[in-house]
Amino acid sequence: MLTNKVALVTGAKQEIGLGIAKEFAKQGANVALVDHNDEPTLKKIAQELTEEYAGECWPVMADVSDPQAVDDCVAAVVDHFGHLDYAINNAGGGILKPFAELSDADFNQTVQVDLFGTFYCMRAELKQLLKQGGGSIVNTGALGSIYNPGGMGAYNAAKNGVIGMTRAAATDYADQNIRVNCVAHGLTKTALNAGEFLEKVLPTVPMKRASSVEEVAKVFVFVAAEATFMTGQTILSDGGAAVGLKG
Ligand SMILES: NC(=O)c1ccc[n+]([C@@H]2O[C@H](COP(=O)([O-])OP(=O)(O)OC[C@H]3O[C@@H](n4cnc5c(N)ncnc54)[C@H](O)[C@@H]3O)[C@@H](O)[C@H]2O)c1
Repeated sequence: MLTNKVALVTGAKQEIGLGIAKEFAKQGANVALVDHNDEPTLKKIAQELTEEYAGECWPVMADVSDPQAVDDCVAAVVDHFGHLDYAINNAGGGILKPFAELSDADFNQTVQVDLFGTFYCMRAELKQLLKQGGGSIVNTGALGSIYNPGGMGAYNAAKNGVIGMTRAAATDYADQNIRVNCVAHGLTKTALNAGEFLEKVLPTVPMKRASSVEEVAKVFVFVAAEATFMTGQTILSDGGAAVGLKG
């Protein structure tokens, strides 16, 4: 159980981020649910989770691509809960197009959220973890950024940057009781992945199915809280796609 532990999850209003927040809550942790839009929904989710589980779930509005908002968010979480044990930098997404069709705006928007957003979060979180003497960060990569299904130029640039930052920060702070890892998950059953996209990608997954949100969420919580000798790693949870690469 993670009683009295504090987890911060970005992009927590829906799908994978919400799944990760729920998994922490189930294990008794206090959870800061961070998102950048739809405050009423975020508040409602936090209230429902607080009623259902032992810890407190607390909503925080912040755009991860705004460095000041991220600094304020981490400060508010620490002010509210007293400290920070686990930070999950999940907020992201990206504009998927064949490389030559990417506009400057497409590239910029993807990199601003996935790469810069993760950088701003890591920096603010690391400062707090250093102050309090330890903690654990898990970033979000994507299997597609390592093994290209195509059309992922901007997304790949950003997510491979996230993997690089994970390794760099892990080395910087490994001797200060701070672990930094990344989960690069494969196809996960979310609204965005329904229909045609799912049908196209499924044949490349040896397990012949997409992951559930709950399966991915459990990996994040394990890496954050249980894998205490692991740092600098990118963990693939992908139904065998990386080793199988079957068409
Ligand atoms: N769904 C998949 O199959 C899959 C596979 C590999 C990796 N991923 C990665 O997992 C993460 C979550 O994916 P998802 O499918 O749940 O996405 P999603 O689009 O359903 O949810 C993303 C959440 O992040 C929030 N968000 C977006 N931009 C933000 C910002 N600037 N500041 C704060 N919050 C922001 C959104 O409001 C939303 O709640 C992403 O980083 C994505 O790249 C997803």
